[in-house]
Amino acid sequence: MSGVNEIRSTFLDYFRGEGHEVVPSSPLVPRNDPTLMFTNAGMVQFKNVFTGLESRPYSRAVSSQKCVRAGGKHNDLDNVGYTARHHTFFEMLGNFSFGDYFKERAIELAWNLITKEFGIDKNRLLVTVYHTDDQAFDLWKKIAGFSDDRIIRIPTSDNFWAMGDTGPCGPCSEIFYDHGDHIWGGPPGSPEEDGDRFIEIWNLVFMQFEQITKEERVDLPRPSIDTGMGLERIAALLQGKHDNYDIDLFRALIDASVEATGVPAEGEARASHRVIADHLRSSAFLIADGVLPAKDGRGYVLRRIMRRAMRHAQLLGAKDPLMWKLLPTLVGEMGRAYPELQRAEALISETLKLEETRFRTTLERGLNLLSDATSTLHKGDMLDGETAFKLYDTYGFPLDLTQDALRAREIGVDLSGFTDAMERQKAEARSHWAGSGDKATETIWFELKEKFGASEFLGYDTETAEGVVQAIVRDGKAVETASAGEVVQIVINQTPFYGESGGQMGDTGTISADNARLDVSDTQKKGEGLFVHVATVAEGTLKVGDAVALTVDHARRSRLRANHSATHLLHEALREVLGTHVAQKGSLVAPERLRFDVSHPKPMSAEELRVIEDMANEIIVQNAPVTTRLMTVDDAIAEGAMALFGEKYGDEVRVVSMGTGVRGAKANRAYSVELCGGTHVSATGEIGLVRILSDSAVGSGVRRLEALTGEAARAYLAEQDERVKALANTLKAQPGEVLARVEALVDERRKLERELTEAKKKLALSGGSAGGDDGVREVAGIKYLGKAVTGVEPKDLKSLADEGKKSLGSGVVTFVGVSADGKASAVVAVTDDLTGRFSAVDLVRRASEALGGKGGGGRPDMAQAGGPDGGKAGEAIEAVAAAIAG
Ligand code: ALA
Repeated sequence: MSGVNEIRSTFLDYFRGEGHEVVPSSPLVPRNDPTLMFTNAGMVQFKNVFTGLESRPYSRAVSSQKCVRAGGKHNDLDNVGYTARHHTFFEMLGNFSFGDYFKERAIELAWNLITKEFGIDKNRLLVTVYHTDDQAFDLWKKIAGFSDDRIIRIPTSDNFWAMGDTGPCGPCSEIFYDHGDHIWGGPPGSPEEDGDRFIEIWNLVFMQFEQITKEERVDLPRPSIDTGMGLERIAALLQGKHDNYDIDLFRALIDASVEATGVPAEGEARASHRVIADHLRSSAFLIADGVLPAKDGRGYVLRRIMRRAMRHAQLLGAKDPLMWKLLPTLVGEMGRAYPELQRAEALISETLKLEETRFRTTLERGLNLLSDATSTLHKGDMLDGETAFKLYDTYGFPLDLTQDALRAREIGVDLSGFTDAMERQKAEARSHWAGSGDKATETIWFELKEKFGASEFLGYDTETAEGVVQAIVRDGKAVETASAGEVVQIVINQTPFYGESGGQMGDTGTISADNARLDVSDTQKKGEGLFVHVATVAEGTLKVGDAVALTVDHARRSRLRANHSATHLLHEALREVLGTHVAQKGSLVAPERLRFDVSHPKPMSAEELRVIEDMANEIIVQNAPVTTRLMTVDDAIAEGAMALFGEKYGDEVRVVSMGTGVRGAKANRAYSVELCGGTHVSATGEIGLVRILSDSAVGSGVRRLEALTGEAARAYLAEQDERVKALANTLKAQPGEVLARVEALVDERRKLERELTEAKKKLALSGGSAGGDDGVREVAGIKYLGKAVTGVEPKDLKSLADEGKKSLGSGVVTFVGVSADGKASAVVAVTDDLTGRFSAVDLVRRASEALGGKGGGGRPDMAQAGGPDGGKAGEAIEAVAAAIAG
């Protein structure tokens, strides 16, 4: 038994052989616990199994769990580097029984593993039990054959384990190893217990209770087992070392750091190398689990860890960013056991490099300031809070970095001065937002943000999570509860719900608490960092402080993702086809469709639209992974990332890339690269298909594309297809022949219309007259043709009148057309030889009067008028005759 990897698999295999399910480590960001910053023990992922809320298909499990203890109840950050056994990141080996075996079997299994499998000398072992736990005492006696003095009763919380302020807990029994009397220290419970001689190697927790609140503790449904053995400690023991940092895994990391810096791990440099090795592990694993450096919350803990290591890199004299150079060693050591490390290697490497590059620009100046400010201070003195705050605010020094930097000189930091300075800055910010003209109703969000800090968004990695209700707002006011039927806005410390931004609509879904269920209809971002859930209480009553389970509407979010990623692809395709003047002018990513406005001066041709659509679909078919990286805005833009209209960017931005270019400047390069905080598909294939519906104008020089993706696009195309089929059916043709058939029908119809018009005119000229046989008579010696016609369009009356004039040679023609709805239109024509005597305009006026209309218009040889009264066509004809007759 030697290496860490081998010890880990021996442990897992042993318990597998004893009927335990081997369960992979859960992520460092707990999915099922709103109160925990990071997963800090193996039992975290099983918390709800212990309490009976969740059931699993097995009742025994074994795992090697990634843990981070920095921030929260278990925080080891300050000690790391200076002790033999503190880590911010470690692996916890554990076996679990969910109401299956209890104390006896747990002790037996543990005893056999360490004495038989691991071969640890029994005579060097001793155990502790909770002072009232006689049963455990007796079991150890029986199973290990220990004499009474090697079973130590401990009356303090050291032997009562709890995950946090609430949750499953119980008395525990710890197994200790005696490293020998050459090392100072005494057994647990003795005055010398803090020495390094007796080291705890395994903690067996007899889970029996659940802490509900500070005061209330109830029994678990069934007694259970949770154990935890730090892999690094047991490895040290099995490798004959006394110090965790001397095990193979840490040796490899420290050797890499020594090689990269050229500074041996001796003297003062020893702690620095250890800090770097330890912090590299926590940073890399946190980034792999979706945490990125940030100003608040988990991201800030990560930043503290990274910057603390980076100061030590600087202490070692590293001229360039160091951490990322050590990453391949870490991936080599741990990547097989934790494949997420391999998958995220590029992201981790870039994030480390970026953070260290940025921090180095202020680190040196900050350290100079610190050394000036402390030049007159001595051991036991305090650095003033104002300077510590300035280092924090201006130079990016997390408080613990400043403390760490002064540690060797035994100088402290005036914490209350630091807090005062922080408060003053907040007050100033407050006066800024209060006076910035924001509506009074909006200031509540700033107040809440100040009180609780930014909400943590978990929705890049998960669609379900737990959180704690921080505030309920109804009608612009903070309230304590919300009951059935009320519509409220809810702030929760962490959430998987995406708040509307960057064109992407907010998520919907459900929130449930022990005593309430809510439907979330929208999520908005307010007060610079709060995620506000707009929700209706469907049943029960929700209270501030409630723990809630949040579930995003998965189907809707999937469509949003596809539409958002498709928007990026269309954006790039538009630039490829139309030119790089195309810039995004706004977008709407809705679940049912996407809308995308771009600057472009003219409508897109059908051919352009087709090519744009083809190009986007080409990348979809690549099924290329969509990658996200964190970069500075400048670096991102230098890399060709497109910054989006109307977005506010922080110092660091997410850069989303997808696909590989096929041609032109993008050939074999990342196809779409954009700054974007939205949520995306994980591979382009998930978009399925993109279909552009339309291109329209929305203002000068701005075009709007609307498009569908996935199922919506498929359904749309299917519907179009059905239409073509129905059309073909009606035409009694094959779908492929429809166009030719319709064109032929249109031609034929035009021809028929022409023929019909001719026929109607002919019919009108012959017969159906109001006068003689052919309608021609003499009026005061003038030939007069007067006829009422039906079925002739008003526009055709003039050509009819022309023909009438021709047939008369000399004379006056009146045609009155009566339409189907009974209205009349009259045309009067006068042959040229007579226009000196009669004006068609005057004559048609008479006709119009008879038809109940007013006047008319035209020239002396041809005029037209209308009137409502088609029944008076005869009178109109006669009125013209009377006018001719004078
Ligand atoms: N949950 C126990 C611990 O973390 C085993 O020590």
